[in-house]
Amino acid sequence: MIKVLFVCLGNICRSPMAEFVMKDLVKKQGLETEFQIESAATSSEEIGNGIHYGTMAKLKEKQILYGDKKAQKLVKEDYEKFDYILGMETSNIRNIYRIIGEDNENKVYRLLDFSKNPRDIVDPWYTGNFDVTFDDVLEGCQAFLEFVKKEMK
Ligand code: 4NP
Repeated sequence: MIKVLFVCLGNICRSPMAEFVMKDLVKKQGLETEFQIESAATSSEEIGNGIHYGTMAKLKEKQILYGDKKAQKLVKEDYEKFDYILGMETSNIRNIYRIIGEDNENKVYRLLDFSKNPRDIVDPWYTGNFDVTFDDVLEGCQAFLEFVKKEMK
């Protein structure tokens, strides 16, 4: 079982999008029993709130199922619970370290570090552009899945 936690600032836009895109990808490849996939926030702002309308609309447009997700905060204990903790941008990574401490087991990455073009996934909360977010999240999840599948062999 590979346990993956996607992390962003609020856990209402990018990381829930990544959670449900990743669940969709692994399901389509018949790998859903091999993965546990969740998402969390580094800030407390949106805890308990549902997915942002822009993320929901994009998932619907792409016919990707999503559940009744409520934002939850990353906690120190998550470091032991998960194999991969994947932030969306560099500032997330700094905030993740603040919560979990040192990354002694090399579990923390930016999602797009797995792509051919490593970069941040900018925050649609500020840009309002969920199309770009979706393309970036999909690219990152596809690249991460290919990486993990090689590790599983
Ligand atoms: P996310 O976007 O990190 O992609 O979920 C944000 C959502 C809410 C806030 C910031 C970013 N906020 O400040 O409440």
